[in-house]
Amino acid sequence: MAQADSTPQEDVDYLRAWADSRPTLSCALWQDTADLEKAQERKLERIAELAGVRPGMDVLDVGCGFGGMLDHLVRHGGARSAHGIDPDGYQCREILRRATPGVSVDCLPYAAFRPTRRFDAVVSISALEYVTGSGVQGQREEVTALRDFFLRAHQWTKPDAGLAVEVVVIGPKGLDAATQQKGRDMLEEATQQSSGRPPALPNILAAAQGLWELLSVRTHRQDWVRTLDAWHSRATGAREAISARWGAKAYDATIHYLALERETFTTGRLSAAHLAFRRTGEE
Ligand SMILES: C[S@@+](CC[C@H](N)C(=O)[O-])C[C@H]1O[C@@H](n2cnc3c(N)ncnc32)[C@H](O)[C@@H]1O
Repeated sequence: MAQADSTPQEDVDYLRAWADSRPTLSCALWQDTADLEKAQERKLERIAELAGVRPGMDVLDVGCGFGGMLDHLVRHGGARSAHGIDPDGYQCREILRRATPGVSVDCLPYAAFRPTRRFDAVVSISALEYVTGSGVQGQREEVTALRDFFLRAHQWTKPDAGLAVEVVVIGPKGLDAATQQKGRDMLEEATQQSSGRPPALPNILAAAQGLWELLSVRTHRQDWVRTLDAWHSRATGAREAISARWGAKAYDATIHYLALERETFTTGRLSAAHLAFRRTGEE
């Protein structure tokens, strides 16, 4: 239920009305299913696989959101523990409320994280966009900000650890500043979340150089288009229920945001990438 002091968009049920049940606020994988729940499950499986997660491992999820990946790691991935970090208090409280055995969370930004143990694997889904922050403008600044993330992830992990990243990146067509700002404003209106700033894929690779060996990279913007279509279809199907409970304004904001996002991925202004790395160095 909505909390009295929360906006409709901070109500997990509102997000569940158009996203999946976890809810996952990132791209699903559609290669062998037309069902949103299953497609999000496929994505979680793929990210765990790319990070080399094996039974008994301790895994860290940076920007864990509502913790769907954390639950997946301990319930289906065989992880001994799954620890999340996310600065959003509402999402952290949802994770703590579920109290899934083996799952824990620190409610803070990754830069403030000071782990007392080292992890076997790290995953990060649609959170690297926040590393580059809205203040970062040029290529050099972007690489510096991203390198800080890769350096920290290196310090948090054991030798040979795996790192899997899903990230929205600048697409082949490029993203003009006006469209980017419009997308940010609409996302904030629809979900109360800031959108971060999609980095350029070559800058991610440059930032990881020497710390993390790149094992694979794959872009998949059509999966984002299908995810947005699935969210749109669920939202329009629940139009009356959403409007009655959270108001027509919240419904309209969501529909407009989903349409704009679809356009940016369809036209290639934005793309999405899965990257798999292995930690370098013996220390
Ligand atoms: C698009 S959501 C993705 C959440 C989740 N990984 C998923 O796939 O549903 C991005 C998440 O990154 C988190 N985030 C933003 N800045 C962060 C930071 N500095 N450190 C860690 N997480 C951050 C946000 O609070 C949000 O939950």
